[in-house]
Amino acid sequence: MTTDSDSKYLRALRTPPPPRMEETTVDGKTKKYKMQNISLAQKIYNRVGLLGYNMLVTFIPSHTIRLGWLRLFGAKIGKGSAILRGTTVFDIAYLTIGENCNVSFRCVLDARAGILIGDNVVIASDTHLLGGGHDMNDPNFLPIPKPMIIEDYAWIGTRALILPCTIHRGGVVAAQAMVNKDVGELEVVGGNPAKPFTKRNPDALKYTGHYRPLFY
Ligand SMILES: CC(C)(COP(=O)(O)OP(=O)(O)OC[C@H]1O[C@@H](n2cnc3c(N)ncnc32)[C@H](O)[C@@H]1OP(=O)(O)O)[C@@H](O)C(=O)NCCC(=O)NCCS
Repeated sequence: MTTDSDSKYLRALRTPPPPRMEETTVDGKTKKYKMQNISLAQKIYNRVGLLGYNMLVTFIPSHTIRLGWLRLFGAKIGKGSAILRGTTVFDIAYLTIGENCNVSFRCVLDARAGILIGDNVVIASDTHLLGGGHDMNDPNFLPIPKPMIIEDYAWIGTRALILPCTIHRGGVVAAQAMVNKDVGELEVVGGNPAKPFTKRNPDALKYTGHYRPLFY
């Protein structure tokens, strides 16, 4: 069942257009799959944005330049949010971040299937958010475009690895955890695979995640 709060996040989520399937037979394989159903011009634009950011812009010690570049190439990033130096972004156009969030140093935001981050979310350094995947039993290794949603006030500890899932409001992921299923509201999970080990105080969710020191 979808609640009002779920639909707030689903409305804000931006995902790639549905992939185009072409039926053909090549070497006994019956399907040919178009990875992205977008125009060549859009592909070039996306690639310029992605390479420019990941090879150069992400290392520039200016929040204005880095966020300006991401917004220019289609990311939606709210007021007061920051993405610190050295973070890699795939498919900038499907990255949506709310207000007063902090994504720390050297994270990987793989938004190829869409990533939505709410407000006041804090993501510690070296965390990987991996969107989508492949059907390992399909002869064409078909992509599975499963998006990721991280709701307001989530806190993700350093070096966590998050596979496509939803981390509900106020959820916490302990440092070095590997998350492969949804994290409940206020739930604290840790380990590999991550399991809940405690709950968070709901009254704590009043702070701002704003953290944007000069030259970070
Ligand atoms: C999630 C976290 C906040 C919990 O801290 P805490 O409330 O002080 O919890 P404790 O250290 O008292 O541990 C409570 C229990 O959870 C377990 N636990 C704590 N961290 C864990 C982890 N990363 N993985 C698995 N289990 C963990 C502890 O072993 C302990 O279990 P026990 O009661 O059986 O001994 C902390 O472990 C953490 O990961 N913090 C993130 C730090 C970080 O990344 N900072 C970057 C700056 S943004």
